[in-house]
Amino acid sequence: MTFEKAQERVQELTELLNLHNYNYYVLAQPTISDYEFDMLMEELLLLEKKFPDLMQPNSPSQRVGGEITRQFKSVIHQYPMLSLSNSYNENEIREFHQRIIKSLEQKVEYVCELKFDGLAISLRYEKGNLVQAVTRGDGTQGDDVTANVKTIRSIPLRLKGDFPDVFEIRGEIYFPHASFNALNKLREEDGLALFANPRNAAAGTLKMQDSAEVSRRKLDCWLYYLMGENLTFKSHYESLLAAKSWGFKISPHMALCNNESDIFEYINDWKSGRDELPFDIDGIVIKVNRFDQQQLLGFTAKSPRWAIAYKFKAEEVATRLLSVDYQVGRTGAVTPVANLEPVLLAGTTIKRASLHNADIIQSLDLHENDWVVIEKGGEIIPKITSVKIALRDPKSNAVAFISHCPACGSMLMRTEGESAWYCPNSYHCPPQIKGRLEHFIARKAMNIEGLGEGRIEVLYDNRLIKNSADLYDLHYEQLLGLEKIYEAEDGTARKVSFREKTSQNIIESINTSKSIPYPRVLFALGIRFVGETVAKKLAEAFPSFELLKSATKDHLIQVDEIGERIAESVVAYFEDEDNLQVLDRLIAHGLEFSHEVKNVLISSIFEGKTFVISGVFEKFSRDEAKNLVEQHGGKVSGSISAKTSYILAGDQMGPSKREKAEKLGVPLMAEGSFLAMINA
Ligand code: IVH
Repeated sequence: MTFEKAQERVQELTELLNLHNYNYYVLAQPTISDYEFDMLMEELLLLEKKFPDLMQPNSPSQRVGGEITRQFKSVIHQYPMLSLSNSYNENEIREFHQRIIKSLEQKVEYVCELKFDGLAISLRYEKGNLVQAVTRGDGTQGDDVTANVKTIRSIPLRLKGDFPDVFEIRGEIYFPHASFNALNKLREEDGLALFANPRNAAAGTLKMQDSAEVSRRKLDCWLYYLMGENLTFKSHYESLLAAKSWGFKISPHMALCNNESDIFEYINDWKSGRDELPFDIDGIVIKVNRFDQQQLLGFTAKSPRWAIAYKFKAEEVATRLLSVDYQVGRTGAVTPVANLEPVLLAGTTIKRASLHNADIIQSLDLHENDWVVIEKGGEIIPKITSVKIALRDPKSNAVAFISHCPACGSMLMRTEGESAWYCPNSYHCPPQIKGRLEHFIARKAMNIEGLGEGRIEVLYDNRLIKNSADLYDLHYEQLLGLEKIYEAEDGTARKVSFREKTSQNIIESINTSKSIPYPRVLFALGIRFVGETVAKKLAEAFPSFELLKSATKDHLIQVDEIGERIAESVVAYFEDEDNLQVLDRLIAHGLEFSHEVKNVLISSIFEGKTFVISGVFEKFSRDEAKNLVEQHGGKVSGSISAKTSYILAGDQMGPSKREKAEKLGVPLMAEGSFLAMINA
């Protein structure tokens, strides 16, 4: 395909993908199948790979992410990002309305909106292109999270219709319940800490370095405030309708209200209606609609005088504490859980609440049979916020944290500075053994299928497995026919059984897992504090297991992102005889305990030199070129600046790059000279 033909097709694909993206994510009315969409995207990705100069900064391919932000740039907001003054009762809303009519002495119309519970974001558009996305930060300056925000499908990268040349639009980035639940489910399977609520998860996700991971998590965004110089709109409502026509996702739940009773009706509708929304809201926002009136009212130092937030109170209810259970996790940490007299809260029956650790029990001054107040403020597990001391039976005893492990009877230990109590009997305490096995088989670890839903427990109870190496000794005949009836979380009885197909699949999946790459095997081992990312870092620095095993604490802490706590844990893991025996067996079973690392340093000929790679090459791909530069001590950058040492120039290098290189006097290096230098 010629460059011109490719250029035409890229343009066509960009328009098609933008349109289908809008239909799917903003209108929720797709007109093509997911498969057809994926095919178009794949075609675009291929063309952009082949003709890198056709890659536009706002290409729909940005949605899949890939850009890594090492450090988010701090940006000063052109217009400060203010917050809203809060109110919690109808009286305060009445006072707000009275203040407004008193100062305006005019009739006033309001726009009532949902108060989305996420993170504020400011998007800047120039000539219809998204150019920057900045978090609220301290209101005066925030972080540039553009690469991550570009992966949010409902945010247009390129606008349609009649939009202003330059403007900012603000809104709320949030996790829809479905994406949030899917994320936590994956984290649970991987033995990672769960996010407490969608807002925390959105905050954590927006600040991730790897935009590809942000893309996978599926954040969303509502826009609710347009600002800019010389905008011609008369009202807030009108400006948002216009923004909707440019492609933004504007809430369909806005309402125009002319008096207090309209406002209260809106508030009351959403007080009960919020439980049915597929995302969290924490209140209602009431804004004066006309811009000229907004201007007359102005701002205080912190918030506009023309708007107010009505915050919903966190829903709470009192119930009786029945008992406290203690659960032991795979690391041995003991978590107290309160069993409660079942009670209805925000549409669900609550029977249990986490008490987190001994300090929380103490700070609540919890006694047996206490009446406790539980609150559901967006958290997945409700929490006990206080105790009704007046209702306490004076004879009841304070809840005392256990001193011995409820599963194996070992004396619990606590490390100074940590709030959790631990059972030290790692190798013989059943919930720790089962927890480690469940972590080992998880999707992001060894990805052994068919062993979920209590099946690990059945194998353990039948004394077939007690460590990961035992899995690889299992035979089909040992599995077939095993079964167990157990009580599920919801109190119903469930039966787990190993039929022919299941047993066969499990054995096959165990065998397939032998080719899982080394970094994931390292993660699967369940070394304390070694999560997925740390495992990757360790595998990069110590490409074989033997190297890692013999690394000292000092070696380990020299690795990027490995601190003392992790280093000590790794050293302790390899000092343990039981671990070493299991590892020897895993090696004998043929699991991957080493890998090739691409970027070993071959020479330092390019040390201190920064390359920009442009165009296509005969003997290597652009990725290979990047590796070659790095293997010879150089760095690769994406854009030409005065600091660029060379442009590695292939065929079809774009004219704008050539022009810039010339202007800055950066020399071009051809493929042949590059290879000659390396080979010399
Ligand atoms: S308007 C100058 N509208 O609530 C006022 N804010 O404390 C601009 N929020 O930081 C904000 N939903 O993150 C506005 N419909 C809505 C909102 C909303 C949620 C958030 C926003 C802001 C905070 C105010």
